[in-house]
Amino acid sequence: MASLFQACSSSSATPLLLAKRVFSLASSPFIFTSGHNIPRHYSSFRASTSASASASASTSVCVDLKEVRSTDLVNLEYAELNLKYKISEELGHVRIRQHVNPLSSSFSTPAPVPAWDEVYKDPSLPLMVDIGSGSGRFLLWLAKKNAESGNYLGLEIRQKLVKRANFWVNELGLSNVHFIFANAMVSFEQLISSYPGPLELVSILCPDPHFKKRHQKRRVVQKPLVNSILQNLKPGGKIFVQSDVLEVAQDMRDQLDEEAKVLRHVDTVDTEEGWLMANPMGIRTEREIHAELEGARIYRRLYQKV
Ligand SMILES: C[S@@+](CC[C@H](N)C(=O)[O-])C[C@H]1O[C@@H](n2cnc3c(N)ncnc32)[C@H](O)[C@@H]1O
Repeated sequence: MASLFQACSSSSATPLLLAKRVFSLASSPFIFTSGHNIPRHYSSFRASTSASASASASTSVCVDLKEVRSTDLVNLEYAELNLKYKISEELGHVRIRQHVNPLSSSFSTPAPVPAWDEVYKDPSLPLMVDIGSGSGRFLLWLAKKNAESGNYLGLEIRQKLVKRANFWVNELGLSNVHFIFANAMVSFEQLISSYPGPLELVSILCPDPHFKKRHQKRRVVQKPLVNSILQNLKPGGKIFVQSDVLEVAQDMRDQLDEEAKVLRHVDTVDTEEGWLMANPMGIRTEREIHAELEGARIYRRLYQKV
């Protein structure tokens, strides 16, 4: 059976990746226009945006990044999903409170376990779980690319995002992706231990708004969740974490490094100071797109269970 991870890594370039590459190719006038077979080169974006500001020879770059809204970049990167944004009065304008507190009592009830054979066509396929799946576009994209080889599950604490993501699942006619309104800190074990197939990949990507030290307890990656992931992950299964907040990334890294007996850090792409320089999944998450547009660095680590 194809590995979810390998399958993800070999997907084709998206319009935004092409556009991003164009940003770094100062001589190209073809901003946001297609050009095929341009190699994926995630890490070039930040470097190239700052480089383009300073390099006099590059001043012919005709994109003023201030004019590029990150929502437009997200839409462009995910253009092939062709998602409807105006869905209904209830979901058409998904306004979401910026942060929720996962320790509040309203998020303490475990999410009900679904009938897996009702949510997936083949519930014996390898599973990828994305913790804090946000809008869900990232998983929808992966699920569409790998429709036959794996199932995808998003756990998200903001209910409106989950409703809209599941609406999109139906719109796209996908039978290998599902989103559950859940506090991953409370529900991961019960949900995932009941899944009939192997757990192959867990991603936790830009998980937290709670980067302040005093809110550390609200961070999603805590010892019980790490234990549960390790317990359920198949041998050879992977954990991919990233954050644009160094302290959050270091915290996740430190907790996963502590599990060195069962987890080893793997480099599939170049690293700098132990951080992966590129997202190995074939597409960036929304938060990643927003952060990179602002010039932030993304700190990534990939682990494999021995
Ligand atoms: C900054 S967003 C990132 C979303 C997406 N992973 C991305 O990279 O674009 C973090 C997401 O994690 C969700 N989240 C935070 N704590 C959570 C928890 N305990 N359980 C489930 N989701 C959580 C938030 O609601 C939010 O949608």
